[in-house]
Amino acid sequence: MTLSQLTTTLKCQPSRLYRIMRFLVHYQIFKEEPITKDSIGFALTPLSRRLSRHGERSMAAMILLQSSPVTLAPWHGLSARVLDSGNSPFETAHGKDVWSYAEENPGHSKLIDEAMACDARVAVRAIIEGCPQVFDGIKSLVDVGGGNGTALSMLVKEFPWMHGINFDLPHVVAVAPKVDGIEYVGGDMFECVPKADAAFFMWVLHDWDDEECIQILKKCREAIPQDKGKVIIVESVLEEDENDKLEFVGLMLDMVMMAHTNKGKERTLKEWKYVLGEAGFTRINVKPIHAVQSIIEAYI
Ligand SMILES: C[S@@+](CC[C@H](N)C(=O)[O-])C[C@H]1O[C@@H](n2cnc3c(N)ncnc32)[C@H](O)[C@@H]1O
Repeated sequence: MTLSQLTTTLKCQPSRLYRIMRFLVHYQIFKEEPITKDSIGFALTPLSRRLSRHGERSMAAMILLQSSPVTLAPWHGLSARVLDSGNSPFETAHGKDVWSYAEENPGHSKLIDEAMACDARVAVRAIIEGCPQVFDGIKSLVDVGGGNGTALSMLVKEFPWMHGINFDLPHVVAVAPKVDGIEYVGGDMFECVPKADAAFFMWVLHDWDDEECIQILKKCREAIPQDKGKVIIVESVLEEDENDKLEFVGLMLDMVMMAHTNKGKERTLKEWKYVLGEAGFTRINVKPIHAVQSIIEAYI
């Protein structure tokens, strides 16, 4: 689009918009391209395609969550968190933890679900392409903290022999779009996890400290067959990645956990082995995929 087309569409001041576009071109969010001999237009780049609302790999919902005032406020309390062991920055800013806040604010809950779903679309594609064998022989899979079910619906579509159970807090499950072949169960993973051949966790355990993870994983042990059951954890594994860019994302997410959760954190392989071992899982395999997460398979 030319500057004048953009100005008309956005109903804004051309000179100010020009300054913003000049900055965004410098930042490679747009690029300038000739439209006719005399006019220049602005075109999308690979980066801005990810910010557009459309397309399989759109990260727009994640950006909307991360830049919302509710999500930004806790960052201002991060220094207090480092200096003393009081409430988490999220609780200091909003008076309650992130999940209770989401329960009372459906608009924010929807932002979280949609943001996680856009990451899930990318990560699950990487799992399906990189490690399909992880799902061999699994007839039923419970996605613990499965959000709006995006990950599970992709997995069940790809591996149709699997029955899927999307398990999350009742207010999340109540508004999740319903998909054939998936059962939706509301509950609390600290109390009970629905029974299945395997339990799947993506971006859930990093929200909790070691003690809490051990408690959740013990509930999973009760839910899966004692002889051949397994848990599949899709999370970052710090210090394992040779790729600098992804290592940065893992370390950045660790800061996000400090700002937004009470005691959550990203873990090294040694830390994952500790929580899994304490919960009674003895055999552990780690598989890298083409994403910031790795797949950790753990067997009783
Ligand atoms: C960071 S999101 C991950 C969502 C999804 N697994 C994904 O990667 O797209 C964490 C999820 O854990 C859920 N959750 C938090 N506390 C829970 C609890 N006590 N029992 C079950 N689910 C819980 C949240 O509602 C949220 O959907």
